[in-house]
Amino acid sequence: MISYQLKNRESYNQNYINSTENPEVFWAEIAKDNFVWKRPWDRVLDWDFSKPKISWFEGAKLNITENCIDRHLKTQGDKTAILFEPNDPKEPSEAITYKDLHKRVNAFANVLLSKGIQKGDRVCIYLPMIPELAISVLACARIGAIHSVVFAGFSATALSTRINDSDCKMLITSDGGYRGAKTIDLKSIVDTALLECDGIETVLVAKRIHSDIPMVSGRDFWLQPLLDTASDQCEPTVMDAEDPLFILYTSGSTGTPKGMVHTTAGYMVYTAYTFKNVFQYESDDVYWCTADIGWITGHSYIVYGPLLNGATTVMFEGVPSYPDYGRFWSIIEKHKVTQFYTAPTAIRALAKEGLGVVDPYDLSSLKILGTVGEPINEEAWHWYNDHIGKRKCPIVDTWWQTETGGIMISPIPNSFEGKPTFATLPFVGIQPTLMDEKGEEMDGNSVEGRLCIKFPWPSMARTIWGNHQRYKETYFSAYDNLYFTGDGALRDENGHYRITGRVDDVIIVSGHNLGTAPIEDAINEHPMVAESAIVGYPHDIKGSALYGFVTLKNEANSNEALKAEINQYISKQIGPIAKLDKIQFTSGLPKTRSGKIMRRILRKIAIKDTSNLGDISTLLNPEVVETIMKNSL
Ligand code: WTA
Repeated sequence: MISYQLKNRESYNQNYINSTENPEVFWAEIAKDNFVWKRPWDRVLDWDFSKPKISWFEGAKLNITENCIDRHLKTQGDKTAILFEPNDPKEPSEAITYKDLHKRVNAFANVLLSKGIQKGDRVCIYLPMIPELAISVLACARIGAIHSVVFAGFSATALSTRINDSDCKMLITSDGGYRGAKTIDLKSIVDTALLECDGIETVLVAKRIHSDIPMVSGRDFWLQPLLDTASDQCEPTVMDAEDPLFILYTSGSTGTPKGMVHTTAGYMVYTAYTFKNVFQYESDDVYWCTADIGWITGHSYIVYGPLLNGATTVMFEGVPSYPDYGRFWSIIEKHKVTQFYTAPTAIRALAKEGLGVVDPYDLSSLKILGTVGEPINEEAWHWYNDHIGKRKCPIVDTWWQTETGGIMISPIPNSFEGKPTFATLPFVGIQPTLMDEKGEEMDGNSVEGRLCIKFPWPSMARTIWGNHQRYKETYFSAYDNLYFTGDGALRDENGHYRITGRVDDVIIVSGHNLGTAPIEDAINEHPMVAESAIVGYPHDIKGSALYGFVTLKNEANSNEALKAEINQYISKQIGPIAKLDKIQFTSGLPKTRSGKIMRRILRKIAIKDTSNLGDISTLLNPEVVETIMKNSL
């Protein structure tokens, strides 16, 4: 008998062996016993990484919201499902029970239906972290519409690109949002974006900041009156296991973002099972993940994973620094949070503020701490362990990706411990491997290489929306028959994995993946810019920061004001998260004879490690390297 909860090292070992020796039997058992299905599957797994084709639980029928909500109504309808903590601590928090959630999701689903949304239609959601965000996600899933949440920090251009890429018919937004002391005028960003989007028929607008905003007649509708008149009963649409559940965009090495497509049954089974075990969730726990639902962490571990387990999940609207740097700790005290999941960049920023803002709070409710999004440095790990967990809470350093849907490598409390900077061992069912430069699999321990996964897992993305070829090229072409993660990793003498960072052109800044190409494209749009190259360099708080080398059409124009303008171009095209910390104007960029920019050299200059630049004599223009080094920032 396979148990849903891993209880100790032995049960992890046994489940791991079962899941890799007999994956179909293993996952069938997890799926059968712990979810409600309208119809069982005909086949557990069908896969071929060369195409690539991956399908789990084919033939099964279900609705994920029935698993997230309806099935909990009888046993725990009055339990809090979503605990909303507003930006302003003076505003009361809101406890949405499973019964309330059921009604609110149903009413929202009926509004979607009344506006002509049907199964398979794409709905873009561009909302701040307010309950309507989680509810609209679930309302889409209720009727089989495919949600595409765009992080509300993205610019109008980034939003319109994403809306158009997946032909969204509807956009759900708000009049604005609160972020610390600031208000964000989301609706005007939306109005600008929609000038470029012909496909959007309806815009639903939630009220949050009660600002006076223009509404386009026939297109824009206030959400609340529609909800007020909608029925709160809506039968869940029966979905096939492999029907798309959502699209979520992630940066890539080329200009356009990749719309990763996740499907229904496999995603459900894997996010639920990982949530339960990585966080060892028990029924009275209060779980809090500080991510935004605009990212995969919020999808899988604020909304789906917790609700599938009938958990109480905290949703926080604000920022860690408002009204002061004790806010996270005050929320933990207020709601007696038991599991707390955040990003290393937040930990570093908060550690910098000293213990004066930590010590006043009672953090004794905490049982487990988690991190995600980027490698955690040893200092931050110890600070988290000593001062937040008081050395009593296991830390789960969870490695995974938008593409993987769920946690892939992580300590499992009660089974084995974490170790600073190590994500440790693969989760049940995950078969990682390291590849060397020559494309050979690296056997044994104490090796470092490129991290790949050998065997499918239920929540892996199935394709890139509208571009299966790109999916194949990005993830399945580097090595035969392997999923390539884009990350480097080392495996220590005990077989534990440590993620060393991206090996492609993605840079992780404050936990956000940023492709260098889209940023360079944005800079190059400036009429004075000839070309540019972006590299990352270590930053105390952000993990990595961006360093831009920019060549102007006319060198005489270089000045500080132009640097600010370049950052404005980036903000407009992508969003403020992609702004450069350093900009160096150069007379040229080092290039190979075939004209490719040698980022390797620029990376070394950015980190001031120029003792060994390798052979630069083969460059097309070796002379620029000297000048760039001399003027480096
Ligand atoms: C990085 C976030 C080290 C990694 C869930 C990965 C990490 C990328 C960790 C995916 C970790 C995520 N340790 N690096 N614990 N978690 N990463 O798609 O480079 O936003 O490929 O998904 O973040 O970022 P994404």
